Amino acid sequence: MAENQLYRTAQALVVPGKGILAADESDGTIKKRFDSIGVESTEDNRRAYRELLFTTKGADEFISGVILFDETIRQTSSLGTRFAELLASNGIVPGIKVDKGAKPLAHAQGETVTEGLDGLRQRLEEYRGLGARFAKWRATYSVTEEQPSDYCVWTNAHALARYAALCQEVGLVPIVEPEVLMDGPHTIERSYHVTARVLNAVYTELFDQRVDVAGTLLKPNMVLSGYNAPDRAGPDEVAEWTVRCFLRHVPAGVPGIVFLSGGQADEEATANLNAMNARGSHPWQLSFSYGRALQAPALKAWGGKAENVEAGQRAYYHRAKMNGAARTGMYAPEMEREAATA
Ligand code: 13P
Repeated sequence: MAENQLYRTAQALVVPGKGILAADESDGTIKKRFDSIGVESTEDNRRAYRELLFTTKGADEFISGVILFDETIRQTSSLGTRFAELLASNGIVPGIKVDKGAKPLAHAQGETVTEGLDGLRQRLEEYRGLGARFAKWRATYSVTEEQPSDYCVWTNAHALARYAALCQEVGLVPIVEPEVLMDGPHTIERSYHVTARVLNAVYTELFDQRVDVAGTLLKPNMVLSGYNAPDRAGPDEVAEWTVRCFLRHVPAGVPGIVFLSGGQADEEATANLNAMNARGSHPWQLSFSYGRALQAPALKAWGGKAENVEAGQRAYYHRAKMNGAARTGMYAPEMEREAATA
């Protein structure tokens, strides 16, 4: 049954102890990441870097799935194996980013709507043929005193649900990603309020558009203080507000919530996830789908040099292991130091 397959894929992605690597940076975003280490963003360099991540030995102990970008799902490793196949042969589920990015929303200065619905059904079929078993679509919402507007919240919710329904039709698990951005000086209470409004709209649209939430995953922001807030909440407070928000607004039938890191420092993202899981069991798995928080130390250690591939892989393996520990609430900051001296 098609539904059973969706459920099985969703559950495999949130199996205890593991989470998702987001390696689906668009051309513009990967260029920014490479600029930060002084490496030119050529197709060869992008392939070499992604190969470093995907061939890290033992990463499959902590990584259940990887989100790829269009270019990457079509690429092969230096040994000639397609990346999607290489991941699948290590028991890692390949996924694909399918949105075309957040674009200015008409008549709404400073707000965005995510595009990519035109031709999506055909693109999803093609990606399935290339080995993808799940997909991702990201909507973003800025927080100011006036934003996000109801217009922005509902327009993005509608698009997320249209995407999710199309995914399920072709047997791909949709990762539904509404990201409330944490730039600005807002309080954690404001973050809670905006996240709650966004989730309410997203689940209303998902139900109205007949999406089976048991065959989806949610990829949200954590409820944090704004990055420029004077007194930023620590992990216990973040866990308290985040879990409260999701208990009120996410159906228990959703198999997993896979947080994005969204610009948190890597150890901060690990500590916050750990604090949530340390509070006991929840209706859904609480996991990670981190981009920067899994990759930043690896990118730096690699620095674009072939002789640093092993150092990059060690750094990636370490962050994957720390986040794997955070899946069960067993992470402690001392584990960072132990690994550094091992
Ligand atoms: P970050 O963890 O770097 O926020 O990336 C996750 C992601 O996939 C954003 O769409």
